Amino acid sequence: MRPFRLKKGKEFRTCEALTMIGRLNHVAIVVPDLAAATALYRDTLGAQVSEAVDMPTHGVTTVFVTLPNTKIELLHPLGERSPVQSFLDRNPGGGMHHICYEVDDILAARDQMQSKGARVLGTGEPRIGAHDKPVLFLHPKDFCGTLVELEQA
Ligand code: CO
Repeated sequence: MRPFRLKKGKEFRTCEALTMIGRLNHVAIVVPDLAAATALYRDTLGAQVSEAVDMPTHGVTTVFVTLPNTKIELLHPLGERSPVQSFLDRNPGGGMHHICYEVDDILAARDQMQSKGARVLGTGEPRIGAHDKPVLFLHPKDFCGTLVELEQA
């Protein structure tokens, strides 16, 4: 967070500039049957869908649904140690897994989250996400029961 000066009446006051979340980058939905979910989005909802893409380093196979204002990512476990397998075990019919907001500066965002008492998952160091950009995940218990991903825009 960079301090900035705010004109208040005739005097300037130094304030902390808050990092603000930006665009909704995507909503991720874990699905038990990727082909069926793809068909649902393509044929029932009429959305533009990608081919299925295996992401071995992330342990998921993904279909990207492109909407006019954001994306939906359909996720299915890939490999033995997929991070979404336990979610699917708990929610056999699938469900919303996380939402991803863009931020301008991932490290400033992390520092702000931690200074406000929100938990950053893992080591706290950004990892390279599915879009080759640095990402962090925030604890769902600190955000109204929703796993939040922050992605550097
Ligand atoms: Co994501």
